[in-house]
Amino acid sequence: MSFVKIAETGMIAPGEKKGFPLNGKTVLLANVDGAFYALNNKCPHMGGSLADGTLDGATITCPRHGAKFDVRTGKNLGNAKIAFVQMKVGDATALPVKIEGKDILVELT
Ligand code: FES
Repeated sequence: MSFVKIAETGMIAPGEKKGFPLNGKTVLLANVDGAFYALNNKCPHMGGSLADGTLDGATITCPRHGAKFDVRTGKNLGNAKIAFVQMKVGDATALPVKIEGKDILVELT
């Protein structure tokens, strides 16, 4: 697949994240110290919206059950918890990002 423009660099300040629609899906874009990263917005646990979660450094926490992911790689950093029960969660899907001038391009995989 090819890279598609999804946003501009000025739209997300360092330390912030936002969800953007792309081809019927939502992509989470995060700015970590000036570098941009993209994840499929759907939490691999039960589909929570990661864009509505909390970004702390490079770690996004799902708002539904608290699973944590590295926005740079999608790697799971912490499992979900429902009523004190820990549930194993897989990795989120990281998407390739390219910057061209002010444009942020993402490749949907
Ligand atoms: S849906 Fe994300 S932790 Fe459950």
